[in-house]
This record gives sequence, C-alpha cells and structure tokens, in this order.
Amino acid sequence: MSDPILSVEDLRVSYGRVQAVRGVSFEAEQGSLVTLVGANGAGKSSVINAVSGMLRPAGGRITFRGQDITRTPAHALVKRGLVQVPEGRQILATLTIEDNLQMGAWHTGGTAQKSITAMYDRFPVLAERRALPAGALSGGEQQMLAIARALVAEPAVMLMDEPSMGLAPKIVDEVFRVIEEIRASGTTVVLVEQNARRALRAADHGYVLQTGEVVHSGPAADLLADERIVEAYLGVDTDSRRRDGPTQHGGL
Ligand SMILES: Nc1ncnc2c1ncn2[C@@H]1O[C@H](COP(=O)(O)OP(=O)(O)OP(=O)(O)O)[C@@H](O)[C@H]1O
Ligand SMILES: [Mg+2]
Repeated sequence: MSDPILSVEDLRVSYGRVQAVRGVSFEAEQGSLVTLVGANGAGKSSVINAVSGMLRPAGGRITFRGQDITRTPAHALVKRGLVQVPEGRQILATLTIEDNLQMGAWHTGGTAQKSITAMYDRFPVLAERRALPAGALSGGEQQMLAIARALVAEPAVMLMDEPSMGLAPKIVDEVFRVIEEIRASGTTVVLVEQNARRALRAADHGYVLQTGEVVHSGPAADLLADERIVEAYLGVDTDSRRRDGPTQHGGL
C-alpha cells in the first residue's frame, strides 16, 4: 500500500485546561474520502483546524506528503495544497462572488482566471451572479461558493467542516454530490460531519470521535453495518429527522 497523503498521529488540542483532543490518529490515502464523525463537542473541528494549521496542536504529529506540517501555519499549507473549507462558510458577504473566488487564489500572487472559469462552469449559479455581493446568495449557494473558493487553490487535500450544516435536505444532497465529484476528480477529502450516516455513505473510511478520542474506525461501510456502533454513536438518523422536522432553511 502506498504511503497516505495525510497522516495524523496522537494529535492533542487544548484550550487552556480543556483537553478537547486527546490523542487522535487517522490517515487518508491519496484520492480517498475520509470522514470524522461524532456528536457535538467530540473534537471534530479541533482536529481539522489543527490539521489545516488554523490552530496549534498541544502535541502529536501531522504529516502531509511525507513532510512534517505539525506547526505549519494555514497560509503556508494552502500553497502546498492543503486547504480547508471552514465551518460556517466564512465567505465575505460584502465582496462580490468574483472577489471571493479571487481570494481563493491569493497565494498565486496573481489572478487565477483559469481555475475561476472552471468553477463558473461547475457552479453556473455563481457565474450568473458573479458581480453580486456574496451576501445575496442563499445558504446553499454560499456553501457552494465556499467550496468553489477552496477549489480555486487546486488543493491535493481538501478539509471540510460540516458543509451540510443548516441546509435543507435537497441542498444537502447537492453538497454531497459536489463532495463526491471532488473526490472523483482525484482530490483527497477529509470531511467532518455530525450527519454521520450521510458522511459514512459517501466515505471510504471513517473515524468515530467521542470526547476527543477515536472510539471506532474502519471502512465506512463496515461502520455503517455495525448495529452497535450505529446505535451507540451515530444517534438518530439526521437525514430523516431533517426531512420530517419543522425547521427548514432557505433553498438553493
Ligand atoms: N475556543 C475554545 N475554547 C474553549 N473550549 C473550546 C473551544 N473550542 C472548542 N472547545 C471545546 O472543545 C471541545 C471540542 O470542541 P469542537 O468544536 O472541536 O467539537 P466538534 O466535534 O467540532 O463539535 P460540533 O459538532 O459542535 O461542531 C468541546 O468540549 C468544546 O466545548
Ligand atoms: Mg465542529
């Protein structure tokens, strides 16, 4: 088996005295889709933010393409091909869609018209509105913009934190379709999700986090097939809950 493109060993993250991540290890093979699932507060965002260089781990080792990146800041990692789509999207609402996409290519020192054009082909809704402020987009469209902005950097590894959060079921389908396309194009995807079943259905390999530790891992299909894991850690089927629930958020 080839070396994994991303490898995380014994990662620790603390906020003052709170030990949010207590020795998490996982790896991603080149071109695979790996998901970290777990309940609220399990430490998913802390793990992914440490990997992307947005926060400094208290311990452990992160290796990307065979090189130690444990303390490499996010901006340097973007240049090297490791990019995160942040939780909550963080698009710049007052800037135009075009400017938001340009930001995805800041590290090239110039424009990235070719990759931006590719994004317009892929997401026609962004092309139609390229001159509008990003704040005019619906939640689902803003998520697509956040993903497109990350793709402009042409990452080898793309990290995503809860991309389906707060979106209506139809839009969640769309987001997952895009994630599967990204993976199919050869980009390695590390996906953090509370929507565990959905993420495991899309993933090759899964890791179940609980209070800062990996409590189960394996091929995603095996985790889904294990009744004990499903009952103990994956909770209610959020897909059906969202479908039946009273709260529906804006459509695409
Ligand atoms: N900035 C912070 N300061 C202090 N504690 C924090 C901070 N961020 C997270 N925590 C704590 O660390 C733990 C892990 O949080 P984290 O956000 O990584 O979990 P998560 O799995 O992403 O949760 P969610 O599903 O709600 O996004 C939680 O107990 C949380 O309260
Ligand atoms: Mg989180």
